[in-house]
Parts: sequence; structure tokens; C-alpha cells
Amino acid sequence: MAEKNQLNHLAIIMDGNGRWARKQGKPRVAGHHEGMNNVERITLAADKLGIKVLSLYAFSTENWARPKEEVAYLMNLPVRFFDKFMPTLMANNVKVNIMGYLDQLPPKTYKVVQRAMAETADNTGLILNFAFNYGSRSEITSAVKELGGMIESGAISSEQIDEEMISQRLMTAKFGAFRDPDLLIRTSGEQRISNFLLWQLAYSELAFSPKNWPDFNEEDLQEFVSEFQNRNRRFGKVDESDS
Ligand code: FPP
Repeated sequence: MAEKNQLNHLAIIMDGNGRWARKQGKPRVAGHHEGMNNVERITLAADKLGIKVLSLYAFSTENWARPKEEVAYLMNLPVRFFDKFMPTLMANNVKVNIMGYLDQLPPKTYKVVQRAMAETADNTGLILNFAFNYGSRSEITSAVKELGGMIESGAISSEQIDEEMISQRLMTAKFGAFRDPDLLIRTSGEQRISNFLLWQLAYSELAFSPKNWPDFNEEDLQEFVSEFQNRNRRFGKVDESDS
């Protein structure tokens, strides 16, 4: 029997908070509140499943276009999340990382995310990686600009540029061998990537749940992980049994 796939890096697009709220006859932000609580549940479940990096798409560079009140609520979520869950994260040895254009965040949010990273810096367990004010095209553009500068200064020739040099200049580089997700799950039935980890997802398995994020529970995660473990990942090669 083929060996099971190892799930080291799981990425999730947590979609459907607004629809969850509407179904309950509540304002959209109630969905974000419940979505925030679900981050804790799924983080602990991912840790139990032996996942090493959990990347969660929490705020995209496009989300600034939402109504002012909703943006303000979303910007305050990290404040509330770390206030409420930091003791649990510490008790479970979780290391927090926030990737995105952090210097554009409101000062309070900036301070809180920096503090969460500093407080958990020595933890050695699961890496909980929030993408917050993150956009993949911007990230790739920055990497290209940096390499362009290196060519201009004569440090390298364009011929020397390879995939590794680009990977090393992305915000996921610090995760080393685990920098590319093995599996991406998007909730709420939408089937799009929405500018999330475009380069890093090149060979990831994709999975879609019809459930809205606040309803996506530990059992759902377990089912998606089991299904992933039994998939046939070929990375562009032919199946071993066919060769
Ligand atoms: C997408 O649902 C969800 C978001 C834009 C926000 C995601 C944020 C969380 C789940 C909480 C994150 C927690 C922390 C600590 C930052 P949507 O609003 O697009 O839903 P809709 O498509 O149904 O309208």
C-alpha cells in the first residue's frame, strides 16, 4: 500500500463569516467574532494532528475596501484574540507568526501582533501563521523588485535567478522545509485562491468545504486531513506503479 502523505503545512481560507451571521439574523461582525473563536478550536485540533505550520488567511490587502466599521472590527480582532487566547497558546507551546504588510496596520493592532510574536518566540510547537494585510501578488512583486535591485547593483546576473531565490524572498521563507502548504482548505463553498500564497501553492492539494468557517469543526478537519493523507501526490511526475 502507498505510504500516507505527511501533512506538515496546512493553509486555510476562512471564508463565510458574513453568510454564517446572516443565516442567524445577526450582523456580519458576529460572524467574525464566532470565526475568531473557531481559530482557537482549529488551532488546537491541528496541533493534535501533528501539523507543523497552520497558515490562516485573516485579512487580505483587498479587505480594506469593506465598510469602515467592518474593517475597524477586523483590525481589532487580533487584539481580542490574543487577549483571550494567549494563555492557551502558551500552554500548548504554540508559536505565533503574522505575515503581511504590518507597518500599514493601526498602531494598536501593530503593537498587539508584535507582542504576540515576541511572547511566543521561544515556543517550539505548532506555528500559527496569520496572513494579515497579506497579498500574494504584492509579495511576489517585492521579491522581483529585490532581485532587480541586485541585478542593477551587479551583485547577480539575471541568469542566476532561480526558483529558490524567489522562495527565499517570500514571507514564508522562515518556515524552511515547511514553507509551502501541503494542503489548502477553503470553507463556504467558494472555489478560488483569492491572492493567497500563489507561488507557495504550486503543488498543494486543494480541498473545499461547503461549511461556513464558524461551523467548520474539529471533525471536519479530521476528515479533510484523512482524505488528504490518502491522495496520490505526484508533483508533476508519473505514478510509481506506472513507471
Ligand atoms: C471571510 O468571511 C472572513 C474574513 C475576511 C475574516 C476572517 C477572520 C477571522 C475568521 C478571524 C481571524 C482571527 C484573528 C485573530 C485575526 P467573509 O466576511 O468574506 O464572509 P462572507 O463571504 O460570507 O461575506
